[in-house]
Amino acid sequence: MLLQIPSVITPEQAAAWRARIDAAQWVDGKTLSGHQSAHVKYNEQMSEQAPELRQIGDAILDALNGNQLFFSAALPKQILPPLFNRYREGMTFGNHVDGAIVTNAATRQRVRSDISATLFLTRPEDYDGGELLIEDTYGTHRIKLAAGDMIIYPSTSLHRVEPVTRGARISSFFWIQSLVKSDAHRSMLFDLDMSIVRLTRDHPGDPTIMSLLGVYHNLLRMWAEP
Ligand code: NI
Repeated sequence: MLLQIPSVITPEQAAAWRARIDAAQWVDGKTLSGHQSAHVKYNEQMSEQAPELRQIGDAILDALNGNQLFFSAALPKQILPPLFNRYREGMTFGNHVDGAIVTNAATRQRVRSDISATLFLTRPEDYDGGELLIEDTYGTHRIKLAAGDMIIYPSTSLHRVEPVTRGARISSFFWIQSLVKSDAHRSMLFDLDMSIVRLTRDHPGDPTIMSLLGVYHNLLRMWAEP
């Protein structure tokens, strides 16, 4: 399931963070990736030594903590510390699938990547190109979001970042291991949850809500691997 999560942070927050991120220490993105994707990766990544990595990363996790839409869609078991990349003019990241196992830099724990997330931090009008292209069974999706908006997609998807032809694109990206491994199961739980939310809004007190909540939790109990 490909889902846009609007306004994870405000445009003002994005602007303030962008300035700090831009001034941080950067390294060649190739040095921080697995070897399968290194040969198609031409970008910059914030240095693991930069203090901003942890500071702004934690602020992103705090922002996600109160985000109902994100929790309903991702059912996160573990969210890896956010990383940051920058694509300047001519930079691009060719077709690849993200590695299945990612090491949490903070805990050294190995985590399965079920969901990939990109939080856009640069305003779309400030750069040309740089779209995130994600392929799924419905075709190729071109993603370029407002500063502060986020896209989540299954980590199994083939994806790429188009060359930036003007300006620079700064984003945060990270992986999530979900309580529910199967994307199909997660999608159904999400649809059911959203339907219950709508029903609760439009028909508060309807006894059907309680029985659907029961179905939701019993499916979650069946599919979750806590
Ligand atoms: Ni990727």
